Amino acid sequence: MSFGKMPIANAFIKNLKTKEYLFELAPGFCPNCSLFQLIKQPNPNKLFHKDYAFFAGTSLKMQKHFKNLATKLINRFGLKKNDLTVEIGNNDGGVVNYLAMKKFKNLGVDPSLNVARSAKSKGVSMFNGFFNFPTARKIKKKYGEAKVFIAQNTLAHIPDINSVFRGVEELLTPDGIMVTEDPYLPIMLKKGSYDQIYDEHVFILSLTAMINICKKFNLRIFDVEILKTAGGSLRYFICRDNNRNISNRVKKQLRFEKKLNLKSLKTYKKFKEKCEKSKYALISKLKELKKKKKSIVGYGATSKSTTIFNYSGIDSSLIDYITDTTPTKINKFSPGTHIPIKSYNYFEKNYPDYCLLLAWNHKDEIFLKEKKKFSKKGKWIIHLPKLQILSK
Ligand code: TYD
Repeated sequence: MSFGKMPIANAFIKNLKTKEYLFELAPGFCPNCSLFQLIKQPNPNKLFHKDYAFFAGTSLKMQKHFKNLATKLINRFGLKKNDLTVEIGNNDGGVVNYLAMKKFKNLGVDPSLNVARSAKSKGVSMFNGFFNFPTARKIKKKYGEAKVFIAQNTLAHIPDINSVFRGVEELLTPDGIMVTEDPYLPIMLKKGSYDQIYDEHVFILSLTAMINICKKFNLRIFDVEILKTAGGSLRYFICRDNNRNISNRVKKQLRFEKKLNLKSLKTYKKFKEKCEKSKYALISKLKELKKKKKSIVGYGATSKSTTIFNYSGIDSSLIDYITDTTPTKINKFSPGTHIPIKSYNYFEKNYPDYCLLLAWNHKDEIFLKEKKKFSKKGKWIIHLPKLQILSK
């Protein structure tokens, strides 16, 4: 299936004359390994570089989420101060930030220099680079084996996923664990949240696919947790084979996936129909509102919105501007469709009639924040799983 030509989702542009890099966003499903993946992958150097636009620290909910995992590692898995925790894609902090605050041995690994610098300034030990098997060897030599290996919304970003797992196999202590989470394929298919598909999400993972990969590297998924984060995710707890018993939760989740016909072409045809319906419902609502001279603002310059806007051909004739709290995105333009990005301060002085909730994965946090602010003045447009207009 193809969503057409796309720019890099986080490549917000300063100058409208910039020639943008485009690639065809076309995911497919592999019946052998059960991976839902992008067929054509842009070069990772185009995505993660010194000016990476995304700073995870902008979401308070995600900060709490990272802190909770740090606490779980200490309480459930008995992590000790001298046990090394390695977190890849820890961005401007991550779980290791909370471990660093408590003086636990930590190492963050991130290829984007600007976010890595920000993490370092918070006291996290950092390795600036891509994680793969050679990196794992370097880390092992310099810092020793890792008791915990973490990847939060990172694994699905790495085209050579096999090299990551080979690196984990190399790096973990014999009783070490890997904890990883990413958007969950069955949830994406159910919600029709096609905006989860963009350059950085090389894979949309499932338990079935993850078990297949783990088997290749003598690893085992011993527990899972369904999470609300990132629009609906699955968290996987992984150990070396034969190290821990597989929980009933894993068995139950696997039975659930078997019933979904993830290997059938029909499943993905239905998904594509859902995407098309969602796209036309959104376009027609925005056009209807614009005919009535209503002002509409996008809330959150997310990567997801790059897919929605480019797939649907929605530009500044329908969305006046996008508001976002990330300094690196403000006063730039959205990739491909060139909608201006404005600060939260600007938004507060220029409330529109409607806000399209682009950061829908942070809905609870945003609605709480806006309860006594924008929600008192205007209405919300929610496009997933069904188009809705919400007021107050
Ligand atoms: P994110 O959740 O990472 O979505 P994606 O993975 O699709 O990029 O990004 C959320 C964006 O929304 C980020 O740019 C920050 C912004 N944001 C706000 O502007 N205000 C808020 O209150 C929150 C929670 C996020």
